[in-house]
Amino acid sequence: MSWTARILTLFPEMFPGPLGSSLAGKALERGDWKIEAIDIRGFATDKHRTVDDTPFGGGPGMVMRPDVVDAALDHAMRDGLKPAIYLTPRGKVLDQELVKELSAGPGVVILCGRYEGLDERVIEARGLMEVSLGDFVLSGGEPAAIALIDAAVRLLPGVMGAEETLEEESFEAGLLEYPHYTRPAEWCGRQVPDVLMSGHHEKIKAWRKLQAEQTTESRRPDLWAAYQKRTANAGQSQKKGRAS
Ligand code: ADE
Repeated sequence: MSWTARILTLFPEMFPGPLGSSLAGKALERGDWKIEAIDIRGFATDKHRTVDDTPFGGGPGMVMRPDVVDAALDHAMRDGLKPAIYLTPRGKVLDQELVKELSAGPGVVILCGRYEGLDERVIEARGLMEVSLGDFVLSGGEPAAIALIDAAVRLLPGVMGAEETLEEESFEAGLLEYPHYTRPAEWCGRQVPDVLMSGHHEKIKAWRKLQAEQTTESRRPDLWAAYQKRTANAGQSQKKGRAS
């Protein structure tokens, strides 16, 4: 079975959307992965096909009904596909580590929320993994689902070319990318850094590493602190290895 993204949504027409183009789209055509968008409304039981209702306790907006969403999850997880992820700004922020875990598994079931949210009881009862894309609010989970799936699919075996696989390693180290340049060597009075024109591979590598470190330190103190901790620990265990 190929890696499968099964999406529960009120807007199935949003898929595959951008996932049908470029790297992910080519891999989809090759059968390296599969996408199934399932309309949550198909699991409503009344004649108006209601999926939401007003919140207990009052307040604005509508809440997705737990019974309808539970029936949709039953269907999506029928063959054991998991984990089931609920995309919400309340979730744990998605990072490359989680993307790698998801990509290494059989696939994902993704529940896209609309309205004010989802009845808390179905999140608890199903043990849904709550995931956020960041500290901002989208109008629904669908664009977040597209981003999550794109990040996972590009890590599937055979999807990326060798070049891109190498690029990956710089982020793997927990650093932001170094800056890139191409022709022309001078553009609008701006020169490409000399070292990149030197043909000196060791110097280029060292320069890129320094750039990645400086950029990470100034833009992302959180990543920088984690990187420093890891490199200090690695130094410690190397020393230990030599001592014993
Ligand atoms: N749905 C709405 N906002 C979101 C966010 N920031 N991340 C994931 N899902 C969302």
